[in-house]
Amino acid sequence: MKIRFVTLFVMLLLSACATGAQTPSAPPAPRHNLMPVPASVRFNEGRMAVTKNFTVATRGFVDERLRSYINRVARRLERRTVMEFPRNPATDASTASLVVACQAAGKTVPALDEDEAYTLEVSERQAVLSARTVVGAMRGLETFLQLVDSDREGYFIPAVSIEDKPRFPWRGLLIDVGRHFHPVEVIKRNLDAMASVKLNVLHWHLTEDQGFRIESKKFPKLHGMGSDGDYYTQNQIREIVLYAQERGIRVVPEFDMPGHATSWLVGYPELGSAPGPYLIERQAGIFNPSLDPTREQVYKFLDTFLGEMAKLFPDAYMHIGGDENTGRQWRLNPTIQAFMQKKGIKDKHALQTYFNQRLLKILKKHGKTMMGWDEILQPDLPKDIVIQSWRGNKALTEAARQGYNGILSNGYYIDLAQSASMHYLVDPLPADTTLTATEAAHILGGEATMWSEWVTPETIDSRIWSRTAAIAERFWSPRTVRDVEDMYRRLAVVDVQLEELGLTHRKNQEMMLRRLAQGANVAALQTLISIVEPVEEYKRFKYHTQHTMLNPLTGLADAARPDSFAAGDFARLVDTLLADAPRFDANAYRIQNTLTLWRDSAIELQPMMDSIPGLHEARPLAKDLSEMATVGLEALSYLSKNIAPAPEWRAAKLAMLEETAKPKAALEFPVILNVRQLVVAACEAPRLKTMTQSAWREHVKQLATPPVPPTVK
Ligand code: ACM
Repeated sequence: MKIRFVTLFVMLLLSACATGAQTPSAPPAPRHNLMPVPASVRFNEGRMAVTKNFTVATRGFVDERLRSYINRVARRLERRTVMEFPRNPATDASTASLVVACQAAGKTVPALDEDEAYTLEVSERQAVLSARTVVGAMRGLETFLQLVDSDREGYFIPAVSIEDKPRFPWRGLLIDVGRHFHPVEVIKRNLDAMASVKLNVLHWHLTEDQGFRIESKKFPKLHGMGSDGDYYTQNQIREIVLYAQERGIRVVPEFDMPGHATSWLVGYPELGSAPGPYLIERQAGIFNPSLDPTREQVYKFLDTFLGEMAKLFPDAYMHIGGDENTGRQWRLNPTIQAFMQKKGIKDKHALQTYFNQRLLKILKKHGKTMMGWDEILQPDLPKDIVIQSWRGNKALTEAARQGYNGILSNGYYIDLAQSASMHYLVDPLPADTTLTATEAAHILGGEATMWSEWVTPETIDSRIWSRTAAIAERFWSPRTVRDVEDMYRRLAVVDVQLEELGLTHRKNQEMMLRRLAQGANVAALQTLISIVEPVEEYKRFKYHTQHTMLNPLTGLADAARPDSFAAGDFARLVDTLLADAPRFDANAYRIQNTLTLWRDSAIELQPMMDSIPGLHEARPLAKDLSEMATVGLEALSYLSKNIAPAPEWRAAKLAMLEETAKPKAALEFPVILNVRQLVVAACEAPRLKTMTQSAWREHVKQLATPPVPPTVK
């Protein structure tokens, strides 16, 4: 019976070829694992072997920054290839494996207009990396590392000509250390990861309702009373800024005001718009405490404080937040209301603009350019400020039209646990933009935002990486680089490479499961966790209603990673089964193995879930896992035997899958869609007689996508 199913597919394939359905196409470009994809890549014949005699020489300009970077890259290459390279600093450029030819230092303090371009020519004899600046050379060195490949003959770099430069000059990652504090080592390893995918701005969100995370020597009660002792000393700040600088990364600090300011007021309630007292906020959300914009004392304080901060951060920009000010404290304060009346300030927005105008003068005095969230965009602000749009591309476009520089963060909220593909396809400057070229030049780039309501130092890497590498590609690579499938293929490689930098996005999952399992074998738990994803957007608040910032975040939803690779693998397996009839047996076999593992894992989980309270929440998930796997195996069996199941079977199974599709413990199974596809495929197999293979596959996928059309039996 199985033979019949396969034969049918083959016949359809042959007939498709005969009728010319298959169009001739250019030979496929050699696949590479570069992320971000360079502006121009041309592979040539041949390869350069990477052996234990690998050496690097420099030509032209070299400084300590470049020397250290080269050294780190060489050590990473050694670790990856399990080889020990000669350490001869005076390597002759004519015989070196890699020549780094840099023309000049570039900016010592990384700046927005830094030249990051480079070229990389790899021939059989040598690789030559050329750049005008040290930062350009750094970017090229990361590309060089990503080119390393291997086969039975050894490690090698393919012969290639690369010319590369970024599409946008501002390519950032925001790390919120306010809601949860993230110590120095977390920031450092993330800076390494950022450099590896050519991101160049760390936006450091240092103050929040839930924590004031930077030492102020002028106002020690800020960090002293506003941080639970979790803050960076000024020496640590300098250390991080230097660390970033050595990787060509700017550090833009954010001091969020006038709202999001509870932690300032714990030690200095006199700055607030209500008398207080104030306590560090423990909940997540939008809160009322706000600086009082009507008091001169507040500006005097900010002048001294921001002056102190300006000396710590060499970057030209300082971010003053400005988002989500509720205005409630202002409304309820008669003195503030009287002030507004006297000055003819009509509402809270106008009062915030007044505040921003005052802030602007202070920032200017300390040599900084203002940056803020899109709420700050009000008339009369100077054109050199930068608007960061979190509310939408529309706000960004509007700002650009008015002549303001802007960056996009809407669409790059990585705290929302959405897919890499979703973020990847968001473009700060989409092809259909209505901006003129001059206006479009105001779009400087974008930033991924790691808001930290739900992350601890243990889990933050897993929320940032590797999805942020896809966003980094959006900011660096040409707009036309948009192949989602190829992005995921490369992302899987990058995901592993990121570990060599000390990132914990993969390894902490296993540690967390071991801790939950208290020494029991975690194999079954790993199987379960590998195919679930935390619920997206802000839905987690629905499942964990008692959430505070003091929650340890060590449960299953914390161990799971967004956009599961294993789920993606299963989706591809099922898709291939539907598309590739000649290999039906092989594909079905792999799916069967996977489903069997799922079903058996659910059984293995039973004793663990019963005896360990921390795993009780896995019970409904294990039940779903078992049911889903069983349904999938049944469908596969029908398909293999080419027996059409009864209509009641289809209805019953789809109804059951609808139940399993409901999130439990703030987790969901994306693979349910693919199990639905198997169910529908089993029922729709007879239709293959009347449809082409690809039409049938689309037909199945469409029917399997809920809600199932009522006409389908
Ligand atoms: C923001 O998400 N409130 C910037």
